[in-house]
Amino acid sequence: MAATTTTTADPETKKVACVIGGTGFVASRLVKLLLEKGYVVRTTVRDPDNKKRISHLLPLKELGDLEIFAADLTDEESFDVPIAGSHFVFLVATPVNFASQDPENDMIKPAVQGVENVLKACVKAKTVKRVVLTSSAAAVTINKLKETDLVLNEENWTDVEFLTAEKPPTWGYPVSKTLAERAAWKFAEENNIDLVTVIPSLVAGRPLTVDTPSSINLAVSLLTGGYKCAGNEFLINGLQGMQMLSGSISITHVEDVCRAHVFVAEKESAAGRFICCAANTSVVELAHFLKARYPQYNVHTEFGDFPEKAKLRISSEKLVGEGFSFQHGLEEIYDETVEYFKGIGVLK
Ligand SMILES: NC(=O)c1ccc[n+]([C@@H]2O[C@H](COP(=O)([O-])OP(=O)(O)OC[C@H]3O[C@@H](n4cnc5c(N)ncnc54)[C@H](OP(=O)(O)O)[C@@H]3O)[C@@H](O)[C@H]2O)c1
Repeated sequence: MAATTTTTADPETKKVACVIGGTGFVASRLVKLLLEKGYVVRTTVRDPDNKKRISHLLPLKELGDLEIFAADLTDEESFDVPIAGSHFVFLVATPVNFASQDPENDMIKPAVQGVENVLKACVKAKTVKRVVLTSSAAAVTINKLKETDLVLNEENWTDVEFLTAEKPPTWGYPVSKTLAERAAWKFAEENNIDLVTVIPSLVAGRPLTVDTPSSINLAVSLLTGGYKCAGNEFLINGLQGMQMLSGSISITHVEDVCRAHVFVAEKESAAGRFICCAANTSVVELAHFLKARYPQYNVHTEFGDFPEKAKLRISSEKLVGEGFSFQHGLEEIYDETVEYFKGIGVLK
C-alpha cells in the first residue's frame, strides 16, 4: 500500500519496528519514542490520505526514518507489506466505539479479526522477533466479586460471560479487549510467535494528535466540570461508571505506557502479560486530590452515597520486578494534562 516517504536507513543494521495504528493517542507517542531511540519505524493508518488524521505524524519524520502505510485490521493482506522486514511489531490499534449499538460487529469481531490478521502477517514475514500487543486493564479487572481491597494481577481475566449476559454500558469494549488478547495468546502459541502483552490502565498526558483523545477527556472530567463544559456530565458519569464496572480509577502517563512497550520488547526475559499502571485511586479520592492541587477549578467532591474507596487496585509488580520504573505519578500526569487543556483553551 502507499508509503508516503522512503526509508533512508539500512534496515540490515537498524532495528525496524512496525506500529499498528499510528493515528492513535498511544501509538503516535510510541512512534515518537521509537524514532528517538533510533529505530526505523513503519506505522500503519487506515487512511493515509486523511490529512487531519495523520498531520501529527508528518513532523515526526524530522526525528528519523518513518514510513506510513495504509492497513485495516479487517483486511488480512494489508499488513503484509508494512510488517515484512520488521523486527518488532507493536499492535496498538483497536476499534473503539463506546456509543455503538452493535458492539459485536463494531468492536468485538474486528478486534479479534485484527489480532489474527496482524499475527498472520508476522508469521509470513519471518523477521519478527517479538510482537507487543496493547491490551487493557479492561481485560483484567471486570468481575462479579463483591469483596473489597482486592489486588489484581496478570493472572486475572475479565469475566466475559458476566459482561455479555448483563450488558452494562460500554460492555463491548472490555469484551473486545479480553477476547482479542485471548485470541492473540492462542494464535501465538499455535504459531510459535514470541508475544508479550502490555496492559495499561486509563492513559493521560499530552497527546500529539489534533483531536483530544477520549481517555484524557475522561481523566480530566472532574476538573472541566468546574466550567460546566458541554457533555461534561456525561463524562463524570463515565468516570463513576468506570469505577463501578472496573473496580477503580487507575491511571498512567502515556509516556510510561510507551516506555513499557519498548521495555518489554527489548528485554529478552520479559514474557507473558504486563500490567502497566502508575496510580490506583477512586473518583472521590481523585476529586479531593484535584481540588487540593488545582483550587482554581472548583472541583466537586460530593458524590452522595457513591463508594468512596475503590473495590480493587491493579498491580504493576511484575513489570517493576522486571526492571521497569515509572517516571510519572498522579501529580505529573495531571500537571501535564492540565497544561494541555489550558493550551487548547478548555481550562483557564
Ligand atoms: N487510552 C486509554 O486510556 C487506554 C487504556 C488502556 C488500554 N488502551 C489501549 O491502548 C490502545 C491505544 O488506545 P488509544 O487511546 O491510543 O486509542 P485511539 O487514540 O482511540 O486510537 C485507536 C486507533 O485504532 C485505530 N483503529 C480503529 N479501528 C481500526 C481498524 N479497523 N483498522 C485499523 N486501525 C483501526 C484507529 O485508527 P483510525 O485513525 O483510522 O481511526 C486509531 O489509530 C488500544 O489498544 C486501547 O485499547 C488505551
